[in-house]
Amino acid sequence: MGYRTLDELDGGQRILARLDLNSPVSVGVVADNRRFRRHARTVRELVEADHRVALLAHQGRPGRDSFLPLEQHADILAEHLDHPVEYVPDTYGPTALDAVGELGPGDVVLLENVRMTDDELPERSPEAHARSELVQTLAAEFDAYVGDAYSTAHRKHASIVGFPLVLDAYAGRVMATEYEANSAIAEREFDGEVTMVAGGKKATDVIDVMASLQDRVDNFLLGGVVGELFLRAVGYDVGRDLGEEDVYESQWRANKGRIRSLIESHPSQLVFPSDLAYADQADERAEITVADVHKRDHDYRDIGTDTVSQFSDIAGTSAAVFVKGALGVFEDERFSTGTVRVLEAIGRSDCFSVVGGGDTSRVIDMYGMDESAFSHVSIAGGAYINALTGRSLPGIEVLDCDRKAE
Ligand code: 3PG
Repeated sequence: MGYRTLDELDGGQRILARLDLNSPVSVGVVADNRRFRRHARTVRELVEADHRVALLAHQGRPGRDSFLPLEQHADILAEHLDHPVEYVPDTYGPTALDAVGELGPGDVVLLENVRMTDDELPERSPEAHARSELVQTLAAEFDAYVGDAYSTAHRKHASIVGFPLVLDAYAGRVMATEYEANSAIAEREFDGEVTMVAGGKKATDVIDVMASLQDRVDNFLLGGVVGELFLRAVGYDVGRDLGEEDVYESQWRANKGRIRSLIESHPSQLVFPSDLAYADQADERAEITVADVHKRDHDYRDIGTDTVSQFSDIAGTSAAVFVKGALGVFEDERFSTGTVRVLEAIGRSDCFSVVGGGDTSRVIDMYGMDESAFSHVSIAGGAYINALTGRSLPGIEVLDCDRKAE
């Protein structure tokens, strides 16, 4: 991809940078997370190069409880940066333009949640967005645009695709690092086996990924809800909802045809769990061999110990491992064994490793694992899926200097 990076950006300019600070929110309080830490690196470089910096970001979607102004984000980012970040309660009106006009070298402002403007959210072409009032008004105040919001790069929103058409555009550090690592499975050749941990609750996403990568991956390690649905497809009485919750049935109906055809076309790549874990009557972790599951009377929450060893061996001896989804309900320590041990095995090996998806990367923090043991821990959700499945990321394409106008 022919984008320019911060290495090619001359210092002392007026820069508009788009970050993704969208974060988990609990009762109105924004949780600090990896996104702040990562984007702080890009912003720090801009500050050190004496740029005048205005940041655009979003939080939540209109109508949701998590749809909030960015005041807390400015404070959290400032802490990571160890440098002031002024929150401006306006995106491109007079208050925003005044704040931008007053920026001195090395100053940073965070403009209001860009999704609070009407122009941001419609999915439009870059050309249409470039004509919007939001883009036209703000672009007039800046010399260059830095696209760093990789995890929103799958959206054709104004602040993602509009500015690169009217300003000199560069990929920030997050954008470039995420792009390189997450596209590796589709684009790089590895000297050895390529393994994917295919777990988690979002079976449709994972099956999409498996279907598009079936010719590039040697082993799919099946766990979580995904693993149970595959076991169900080969005749085991698992992968069914026991209570009211609909975790399995709707995803089974939506995917059973694709699951069966993956089993038929690529049987040797699929590594099924041989045992599963559940909570017994004393509410302790108990395990059962899959072959002994005759009647579905437990809620399975993790892969069992034998499966953990087998998956760890395969992952630990692969040349590359991509993780999409947890192998069990890791939020409950009793059922974190599969996810944590397999991640530890990947971390110990010297394979190229990418851990992606919001939930899975959370395990690393929850269980105090060393992030640097992995080649890359992605901060993206939807964009990670797009990268794995080879679908386009409009926010990256628009940074490509060789791109042709639509
Ligand atoms: C994310 O958190 O995945 C990104 O910020 C995109 O958010 P969205 O799904 O609301 O567009």
